[in-house]
Amino acid sequence: MKKFSKKYSEYWDLFESGLRNYCNGLNYEPPILAESMRYSLLSGGKRMRPVLFFAALDCLGGTPKEEMRFAVALEMIHTYSLIHDDLPSMDNDDFRRGKPSNHKVFGEANAVLAGDALLSAAFDILLSESGRGKKYLRAAQILSECAGPKGMIAGQSADILYSGKNAGQEELRFIYEHKTGKLFVAPFLMASTIMGKYTAEFTEYAKNLGILFQLTDDMLDEKEESETLGKTAGKDREEGKLTCVKVFGMERSEELADEFAEKCVSALSNIENNDFLIKTVRVIRERNH
Ligand code: IPE
Ligand code: IPE
Ligand code: MG
Ligand code: MG
Ligand code: MG
Repeated sequence: MKKFSKKYSEYWDLFESGLRNYCNGLNYEPPILAESMRYSLLSGGKRMRPVLFFAALDCLGGTPKEEMRFAVALEMIHTYSLIHDDLPSMDNDDFRRGKPSNHKVFGEANAVLAGDALLSAAFDILLSESGRGKKYLRAAQILSECAGPKGMIAGQSADILYSGKNAGQEELRFIYEHKTGKLFVAPFLMASTIMGKYTAEFTEYAKNLGILFQLTDDMLDEKEESETLGKTAGKDREEGKLTCVKVFGMERSEELADEFAEKCVSALSNIENNDFLIKTVRVIRERNH
């Protein structure tokens, strides 16, 4: 995604420096472990979830920099999900973020382990953050729940279950709300827990934004070139994935994306300092990668 605004650039730069800092400290035996973790963590990406976390904190009068470690843990969990998602036994994609997928560089077994390591290391961070007090403990629990078997993993499991099957709208909704939605809801719930307000509005916005994000992801898989996407285009059809394009067709999917974008905007209509979050809806609706 282009740096669509000064604010996005600011959040992006802030996150990138926090992440690099964290990565500089990674030093494990055997060295291939840290190397493969670093390869995927530092290979780019839109950093959408940490950026949204910072924006949510800002909107509530918080200080993004002070909560950096939650942002790093969130992106680590997202990155591990991508490494595993690309494995031959899952989506079998050789490209990610414009580069060979982790397993193409390090081999399948090491890619599984890089994912395992990122997930466990994220929980190290969350456990140490939870020592800051009750609301930080709660924020850590939120990320844990959103990442796990009631969250993103449930969605990935359903995604695999319904691949190649004749499932419909209800199953698609479950997949969207979990595999993508939960890691969009997490940063907003963490921010509102840390700052103590706007839980309902943020949840409504983030749920719909997660759905919008996956609607556009599914449509882009069909419409865009691999080069623009940074991952292999046309993969969903090839793998028989249950996508919005399969269930609704492209035209209706475009309309649905507009409807979900509208829901995001109205969820925040009574909230102050909402400019960046409102602008992000349009950017996600119109993104090409
Ligand atoms: C990809 O997420 C996985 C989905 C939920 C569609 P992103 O599109 O945010 O991937 P990166 O982090 O920018 O590579
Ligand atoms: C993956 O959804 C969501 C994850 C939890 C990783 P996709 O399988 O559609 O994501 P891409 O298209 O590979 O990025
Ligand atoms: Mg997948
Ligand atoms: Mg995939
Ligand atoms: Mg996809």
